[in-house]
Parts: sequence; structure tokens; C-alpha cells
Amino acid sequence: MIVVPGPSSIKLGLKVAEILSVRRVDVEYKNFPDGESYLRLSEAVNGEDVVLIHTTYPQPDKRVLELLLLINTLKDLGARYVKAVVPYMAYARQDSRFREGEAISINTIFKLIERAGADEFLTVDIHKEFSLKVFGIKAKNIPAAESIAEYLKDMDLVRPYILSPDKGALKIAQSIGERLGAEYGNFEKTRDRISGAITVKGERVEAKNRDIIIADDLISTGGTIASASKIVKGEGARRVIAVCTHPLLVGDALSKMKAAGVDEIIGTDTIESEVSRITVAKLIAKELSKS
Ligand code: R5P
Repeated sequence: MIVVPGPSSIKLGLKVAEILSVRRVDVEYKNFPDGESYLRLSEAVNGEDVVLIHTTYPQPDKRVLELLLLINTLKDLGARYVKAVVPYMAYARQDSRFREGEAISINTIFKLIERAGADEFLTVDIHKEFSLKVFGIKAKNIPAAESIAEYLKDMDLVRPYILSPDKGALKIAQSIGERLGAEYGNFEKTRDRISGAITVKGERVEAKNRDIIIADDLISTGGTIASASKIVKGEGARRVIAVCTHPLLVGDALSKMKAAGVDEIIGTDTIESEVSRITVAKLIAKELSKS
């Protein structure tokens, strides 16, 4: 097995190669003056079982295209088996036709990944697992909860409560809660499909003097976390910690959450960001060593 860290996942790719003690083949990468990507495999890969690790953020459109170019090039250069590991899968939230005429973007991208020659697909905390069903190849989601819980265990939490800001991330909150032996639950969120405006509400959480961990699969604009934080801070929470797998952190997301009372923001390295304090390298390596 060899690991190829794509240009958007160099650090994570190196960590995974190191844990597995396997050879690494780097990608030579540059941007042409007009913005097009230039990619070149620095060593031969023919006959190899290749693990390509390439996340799709920031610049999701460009990253998705690079992913397709890399998969196809690896196959073209004679790789025997290509496992595409995409730590954060962009477009996964557009997994249904919410309004008449919409593109179901993730379906198109998955078809392209398969068509480009991927033999297997792995991702971390995909928005909804059902979207993987579109693949005709082996496709699997790796939950990050184990690594997130390990990190939280060392935080001296006071009577922690793990709160999902919507039903969708309850699975994550539950998994973290069970690992910490902490209570968990969820709020309800509605989003206006045209304006994008969100409303978060829910049953009262006994937040007084407790550490509330708001857990979500991703933080984009920070609006969801900010709304949930205002509620629990209003109930007297001692500390609010926002934790997510994919810290997209668009625009003023960090200051928005802080203004809403969030004391700490923590993410994983599926996307390299200033809050990426938890690594998913061990989980990816564990999954890769299974087959
Ligand atoms: C959506 O259901 C996701 O799980 C996140 O809650 C959401 O995408 C976060 O977006 P934002 O940070 O913009 O509120």
C-alpha cells in the first residue's frame, strides 16, 4: 500500500502514512495563471494499491475537480487499486431535491468519482450516510466521535451535556455522550430553503452551571451553533464548547459564535483550520488497516 496525500490534505496524509508505516508518493501541484490546477505524481504508481487522501475544502469546486483528476491519473498510470479517502466531502448537504428542479449535487459527484476509476471510497462524518448508496463501489463513512470524545475527556468538563443543534447530528452527540458517560439530546432546527435563515429551538436543557458541548457535523457560517449557544447561555450554562468534525468556518463564523457566548470552538483536521485540534488520522489509518 502507498499513500498519496493530495494537495488539500498534506498534513493529514503524512500522519496516516506515518501511522501505517507505508511509503508516501507526493503530488507536485501548482496553479496556472488562469487558475487551472496542474497535478503530477512524483513517482511511479503502476501495480500499486493506492490510498489517495484529498479533502474538498476550501474551494470545494476546485478540490472536487482535483480529486477527479488525481483518481483518474492514478488509474491511468497503472495503479492496481485506488481508495479515495475524502475526509470532508463537499456538496454532501445537497443530497436531495429540496425544491423542484434542483441538482442533487452529491449524486453527480459520486458518479463522477466512480467513473474516474475509484475502486473504493471512504469519508468522515458525511452529512447523511444514505447518500453513499449511489455508489456501485464499496463506500464507507468513518465516524469521528471516538477521537472527539477522547479529546473532550481531557478537558475537565463539569456535568457535561452533549447537545446536537438539530436532529441530524444527534447520532454524533449520542456517540460522544455515551463515550463520556454524559447526558445528550438535541434541539430542532428549521432552515428557510430560499433565504437560508435558520431557527433553532427545543426542549429545555438543564444547562445551569453545566458545561454544554454543542456537537455538529460541520460549522459553516456558525449560525446554527450561535443560535443554540444563545439558548443554553440564557439558561445559565457555565461554559459552551462547540465541537464539530468539519470546521469550514466561513467569513465571520468564529466571531459570530463567540458573540453568542461560545467559549471554545474545536474541530478536527478533516479540514485544516485554526480550530483543528483533533486529528482523525488514527481513525482513517485503523479503517485502512482492516482491508
Ligand atoms: C446542517 O444540517 C449541518 O449539520 C449544520 O448544522 C449546518 O450546515 C451548519 O451550518 P451553519 O454553520 O452555516 O449554521
